[in-house]
Amino acid sequence: MSRISYVNGRYVNHHEAMVHVEDRGYQFADGIYEYVAFYNGMLLDGDLHFDRLERSLYELQMHMPMSRAALEIVVEELIERNFKQDGGLYIQITRGVARRDHGFPKRVRPALVMTVCAPKLPKAHEVAAGVRVITQPDIRWGRRDIKSISLLANILAKQEAANAVAREAWLLEGKVVTEGSASNAYIVNKKGEVVTHPANEKILGGITRDVLLRLAQDNGIPVAEKAFTLAQVEDAAEAFLTSTSANVLPVVKVDDMIIGSSRPGPVTQKLNALYTQHILMQTGKQF
Ligand code: PDD
Repeated sequence: MSRISYVNGRYVNHHEAMVHVEDRGYQFADGIYEYVAFYNGMLLDGDLHFDRLERSLYELQMHMPMSRAALEIVVEELIERNFKQDGGLYIQITRGVARRDHGFPKRVRPALVMTVCAPKLPKAHEVAAGVRVITQPDIRWGRRDIKSISLLANILAKQEAANAVAREAWLLEGKVVTEGSASNAYIVNKKGEVVTHPANEKILGGITRDVLLRLAQDNGIPVAEKAFTLAQVEDAAEAFLTSTSANVLPVVKVDDMIIGSSRPGPVTQKLNALYTQHILMQTGKQF
């Protein structure tokens, strides 16, 4: 079955999905993106992802290339054309194609590209046993809350993790863990509180994070949205990360520090169960 992508108004074979060399995304990383999971053909928390997409565009003084309702119809059509039940939807909007000049071009149409891929879920043994992460300096810009396609610092950190055969790189600003290269970071302290960096300009406020913190609070698990340091990681009872592709993934080692019992802890497991239940209730997907 051939893979179909969407490029500026057309559904095309994936190998023919091209943009112009003067697309400002290509030349300046002048654009934003979203990555949304879908199960049984239904977007998981689609509304929250579309809200974040609109906010990212607003921050870059860009507009939606079409109404939200129209975009939702195109997304549905694209998923159908790919004959996929479960997977990931990538949406990218750039300022458009214009002669290379740093300032915003006048009268340019935003470029919209969407692709669909197979799910990138963690392996069962990673969820069961937990994963290792390494730390890297956080060398990113000051507006990490915008889901910008400018991901150079993120991919350099992720590659360091891959080189170290670790699942993720946790980013350090001074002594503080901000987040992962493509995920949010959490510890559970010895009081049983889930601690994660506040959703401000220093991190990307994950949709998984938003949903999970709400589920935690609704189920009586205490949450503290405050920055934590590497020393607090060392002293933590549990650790984990979240993202659209990883869901809730236990972390059992950070650099050479073993976390808690070196096994996924009870709070992480409870949160994972709550999140799995959330996916089931919204999409019918059973893990
Ligand atoms: N990444 N922080 C960063 C830097 C991220 O890139 C991501 C997601 C997250 C988690 O956000 P969410 O829960 O909304 O997926 C946090 C996606 C998966 C990506 O780049 O493909």
